[in-house]
Amino acid sequence: MDHFDLRDGVLHCEDVPLPLIADAVGTPTYVYSAATMVRHAEVMTDAVAGAGNGEPLVAYAAKANSNAAVLRQLAGVGLGADVVSVGEYRRVRSAGIAPEKIVFSGVGKTEAEMAETLAGGLFQFNVESVEELRMLSAVAAAQGRVARVGLRINPDVEAGTHAKITTGTADNKFGIAYQDALAAYAVARDLPGLKVQGVTMHIGSQLVSLDPLQAAFAKLGALIGALRGDGHAIGVADLGGGLGVPHGDDQPDPASPAAYGEMVRRVTAGWDTRLVFEPGRLIVGNAGVLLTRVIRVKPGARHPWLIVDAAMNDLMRVALYDAWHEMNAVRPSGAQATYNVVGPVCESGDTFAMARTMDRVGAGDLVVFRTAGAYGASMSNNYNSRLLTAEVLVDGGRWALVRRRVDLDDLAGVADPIWR
Ligand code: LLP
Repeated sequence: MDHFDLRDGVLHCEDVPLPLIADAVGTPTYVYSAATMVRHAEVMTDAVAGAGNGEPLVAYAAKANSNAAVLRQLAGVGLGADVVSVGEYRRVRSAGIAPEKIVFSGVGKTEAEMAETLAGGLFQFNVESVEELRMLSAVAAAQGRVARVGLRINPDVEAGTHAKITTGTADNKFGIAYQDALAAYAVARDLPGLKVQGVTMHIGSQLVSLDPLQAAFAKLGALIGALRGDGHAIGVADLGGGLGVPHGDDQPDPASPAAYGEMVRRVTAGWDTRLVFEPGRLIVGNAGVLLTRVIRVKPGARHPWLIVDAAMNDLMRVALYDAWHEMNAVRPSGAQATYNVVGPVCESGDTFAMARTMDRVGAGDLVVFRTAGAYGASMSNNYNSRLLTAEVLVDGGRWALVRRRVDLDDLAGVADPIWR
């Protein structure tokens, strides 16, 4: 469910007509609905309420959309954060997310990142190797602090999603192999400066079926038992993120958050741990659109080329993962047409859809890419010396520019370097 609807024939975000935003800030522009993201945060929080010991920690995966205004909205409804760099850590802290609600994931945390986040405070480091454990131990010992740790386990489960967003198989770089887990915990126990409190996993993104998640969680449950048998005090289980979002009528609908919560309750009953969740896309995916203008329609061999002013640098998901984003006219006439939809960037990968039947549009018309709130702006870049896309947040009848279109000067590099 989202808050992008036609009113009097014009697509609105909440109570704001999208042409008003296009006229004010230009295109392409990401437009986010505060009501949608807040609702999804509440849906997720409600879905897992009562699961595990104490209050579950819903730690929003900031990588999905780390705009400061978005983070501020989510902080306001009580979400924590899953961060993967010190940059994300700083952003979520300045958005008002408390240290005790932050987990730090990622295979390549540097010593400097560990030092800053440990000093600043966080709930848990999700550690992905014995080598990382040793580095974190040294950092903690040097500061005279204790780092709380969960070990990320790679359960070797096929998640049933695109290969590039699958993270829990033996061929992925993530986590500690399931069969090596007991040995890794034994190492961790003997290292100074660490308090080993948890187990963590994340098997992939845009998951449609609950089956792989359930299989992975079952393995994690068995591991918790084995770890306790070895004398480890495991009080936290971080189940990662990954639940997909609907992408329109032509795409498979993922399991609902409620069904996910029910499955979690069933599988984790008896674990006797606090639960942590790291949803990203689920919170912000359908809370955003990429608003773009048709530059021109050019004849093509099979279908006309619909050339819009957004490109692969603004929304990389199609080029990277063959993702499917629904496209709608902002002022649909009711007529349909079939297009190949492309951007202006000079490579054939800059294609949003081939043979897509959608609202008929012409030069100058506004179009939106739906479900662009997650991994849209946060993955954008300035390839072809294009300007980083602006971002707008809508809240009821008001809107605000929450990232200006970055100046070319900021991005250009230095023509006359200061040599050293
Ligand atoms: N936790 C960890 C450790 C992760 O690596 C991720 C996503 C998440 C949580 C959040 O997953 P979500 O709930 O959003 O599925 N750029 C890709 C998605 C990459 C996801 C990377 N990790 C895309 O556009 O589909």
